[in-house]
This record gives sequence, structure tokens and C-alpha cells, in this order.
Amino acid sequence: MDSETGGPSPLTPLQKQIYESANERYAAKHFAAASVEIVDTVPAHYDPLRGLLLRAYEPVVPTMYSDGYAEELTDLESRANSTTMFTALLNGHIVGTITYIDDAAHPLHLFADTCAAYMRFLAVDPSAQRTGAGSLLTKRCIEQANVQNRPRIGLHTLPTMTAAINLYVSLGFERSTSNDGLSHVGYDGEAPAFIKPLS
Ligand SMILES: CC(C)(COP(=O)(O)OP(=O)(O)OC[C@H]1O[C@@H](n2cnc3c(N)ncnc32)[C@H](O)[C@@H]1OP(=O)(O)O)[C@@H](O)C(=O)NCCC(=O)NCCS
Repeated sequence: MDSETGGPSPLTPLQKQIYESANERYAAKHFAAASVEIVDTVPAHYDPLRGLLLRAYEPVVPTMYSDGYAEELTDLESRANSTTMFTALLNGHIVGTITYIDDAAHPLHLFADTCAAYMRFLAVDPSAQRTGAGSLLTKRCIEQANVQNRPRIGLHTLPTMTAAINLYVSLGFERSTSNDGLSHVGYDGEAPAFIKPLS
């Protein structure tokens, strides 16, 4: 107890150093043990995926409960048979999801470039972010598009999705203004498009 403020005593420099070093050891151990696996989504995943989709998207699409986007986001049943969905498992626990759409005629394929495969609804539970799950889910879609000999793969973001934009750029996606223009619920501007050429 701090005798002047009545609150907890401030840490001495030595205590601070010990505390930080313990945190670093914990983080190193935790992340060294982290093992992310990408699997096909099955119906048993739907309930946990719905919760994590809402937790992940709430900060980046704050209007989603009033504009209907939350319903589309979490409607896994209706897209299950016509798209390909992948689930990320971190040490066996469900932590992430992505939807891959290869048919340009599909109502969820909103890309002007109809030769491009398209990805939507990427999300990683906030409690498991920064463990590589988002990158692996995206890479799984790239792999799928390569297997299907698609010349490109694309997606739309929102300006609020800065983490996702960094992720896409780190995987070689580039801005594609000619594909901007998705009319997004709850968002008045044009949604920025990103595209990655495939070999
Ligand atoms: C985008 C999202 C899926 C990333 O998932 P993730 O598992 O944390 O991502 P990764 O651990 O694979 O991170 C890969 C790279 O993305 C970038 N990144 C991830 N989180 C970031 C953050 N909070 N701030 C800045 N860059 C970030 C970094 O470049 C990171 O590489 P690094 O860790 O080596 O620096 C996650 O933040 C999320 O669910 N966001 C909300 C939903 C969303 O915006 N979806 C995108 C729809 S288009």
C-alpha cells in the first residue's frame, strides 16, 4: 500500500524488471506452444464460430447489430453448401474462420473481377489474435484458388480493418481500386478492394 495515495505501491525498478521478464518468459512459452491447424468447417463448429465472429467484428463494424450485418456474418448454415469454409484450431480450440467463394455468380461473390476467387468473413477470436491463425486461414484460401487455377484472389475490407489490411499486404495483396465499390451495410463509402495475382 502506498502511504501517500492509499493505492497499491508503485513497483521498484527491480520488481518491474522481474515482472517484465516473467511476462516475456510466459509469452515465449505460450507462443512456442501455440499450434494452429486449418480444417474444413463442420456443423459442430457453427455455434462457437458465431460467437467469435461477433466478438471479432464488433470493434471493426460497430453498426452490425442495427444494420443486419451481424445476421449475414453469422449465417453459416445458409452458406455452408455453396461456399467453402475453413476453421482455425489453436491447440485444438476453435479460434478462427474464413469463407472462400469461387463462383462469381454466387450472391456472396461481390467482386467486379469475375475471374477472381473471393474471400469473406475472415475472423479470429480476439483472445487468439496475433498467433498466426488469420494468416493461415488466408493462405488456405490462396492455396484453394491455386488448386482451382484461378488467376487472382480478391477481397473487400473496410478502413476500420487495419489489422486485416496489414495481414493482406504482408501476404502480397495489393490495392485494386477497379474492384472497389461493394455497397456494404452500415458503411457509406466504397469498401477498399485488395487482390493477389496467382501463378
Ligand atoms: C484480421 C484478423 C483476422 C487477423 O488475425 P490474426 O490471427 O491476429 O492475424 P495474424 O496473427 O496471422 O497476423 C498476421 C499479420 O497481420 C497483421 N496484424 C494482425 N493483427 C494486427 C494488429 N492488431 N495491428 C496491426 N497489424 C496486425 C500483422 O502484420 C501480423 O503480422 P505480425 O504478427 O508478424 O506483425 C483479426 O485481427 C480479426 O479477426 N479482425 C477483425 C475482423 C476483420 O477485420 N476481418 C477482416 C475482414 S476483410
